[in-house]
Amino acid sequence: MSGKPATDILNRRRFLGAAGLAGTGAALGVASAFAGAGGKPDPLITEVQDWNRFLGDGVQSRPYGTPSKFEKDVVRRDVSWLTASPESSVNFTPLHRLDGIITPSGLCFERHHGGIAEIDPADHRLMINGLVDKPLIFTMEDIRRMPRVNKVYFLECAANSGMEWRGAQLNGCQFTHGMIHNVMYTGVPLKVLLDEAGLKPNAKWLMLEGADAAGMNRSLPIEKALNDVLIAFAMNGEALRPEQGYPLRAVIPGWEGNLWVKWLRRIEAGDQPWQTREETSKYTDLLADGRSRRHTFVMDAKSVVTNPSPQAPLKYKGRNVLTGVAWSGRGTVKRVDVTLDGGRNWQSARIDGPVLDKSLVRFYVDLDWNGQEMMIQSRAMDSTGYVQPTKEELRKVRGVNSIYHNNGIQTWLVRADGETENVEIG
Ligand code: MTE
Ligand code: CO
Repeated sequence: MSGKPATDILNRRRFLGAAGLAGTGAALGVASAFAGAGGKPDPLITEVQDWNRFLGDGVQSRPYGTPSKFEKDVVRRDVSWLTASPESSVNFTPLHRLDGIITPSGLCFERHHGGIAEIDPADHRLMINGLVDKPLIFTMEDIRRMPRVNKVYFLECAANSGMEWRGAQLNGCQFTHGMIHNVMYTGVPLKVLLDEAGLKPNAKWLMLEGADAAGMNRSLPIEKALNDVLIAFAMNGEALRPEQGYPLRAVIPGWEGNLWVKWLRRIEAGDQPWQTREETSKYTDLLADGRSRRHTFVMDAKSVVTNPSPQAPLKYKGRNVLTGVAWSGRGTVKRVDVTLDGGRNWQSARIDGPVLDKSLVRFYVDLDWNGQEMMIQSRAMDSTGYVQPTKEELRKVRGVNSIYHNNGIQTWLVRADGETENVEIG
């Protein structure tokens, strides 16, 4: 830390005066901007501030940079009553404080069944066994010497919005939609590893197993494995974070998050799906008649307005930016429509930034708000022509017993004072 002279801050401030500045401002319109509330000069314009006067911390005072201290409320959050222990729990991405399409690594929601495994990459091994010609064991260095690719994908937990099946419940898009993140992965296509081991013709399913205390394992059909699955060691340009499976995780584009095994240590090829505990008990969708949907791997098109939202109310009348994110596990997002009046009128939002396969897109509506109540919704359409359903449409087919795969349209009520609430229409 660099020591600062301990002189009185007030003594160091110097009043410049609006007159002194007038000569530097060319247009009349600029001069009026010097006046703050009540027509008084704005001291943030007329007084020299400390940060403008004194040297700041030098290079290497922050060898691994972190966000500004003024951003300290931009954090993952959990819902304490949701789970019994933090080791088998979830927290949520602060969607209402993000922009663009990439989730910063430190803000990616976490879902662990047995806590975060801390693994020295030198001690990590990936084994491929089962119905293969040549069982193999890879070190991390072996994997880093294989051909790699870079891909941006969203990961959404099947339980995202799961608390909303029976009605509006959690007041904030961080909690209703925050079990999602979108990062750039670097990794080796699983097909490259499987080709090296040589799959036997009767190999139809893979079992992916994690090295965490939960020893989580998941079954994956071979067609998907050979198509676009990655074994990733990096996210957003650097090593995976421990929370996201350091040093190695499976990336299963467009499919539900629970298949994306973290701390990946073993892949076994077999001729049928494994009966893992989670798959048969938890990750199935219970229907109204008591039957359940077994394998519902793909995450259907979905969207949410992140601003305004309950944690990010409107503060100003007039010019505002409405924004949100949309995604589809079946391809790209083609269009996002937004309504401000509960579905009577719709307009197409402006999608800005990269539109990538199985990745979040960012959308905007440049808004002129006159202070009227609004019922805001967004509706995504993907490259297959699929349109995000309303919650009512979804309930007609699926009932309300489910926790998983709720991609219904979200409604935010913006009141005249700008405060915003999670509601449902009708
Ligand atoms: N892999 C292991 N080994 N252990 C786990 O608990 N949780 C799964 C999946 N992979 C899990 C795991 C679930 S349910 C989800 S939604 C994603 O990881 C969450 O990934 P994230 O923590 O990077 O957001
Ligand atoms: Co999950």
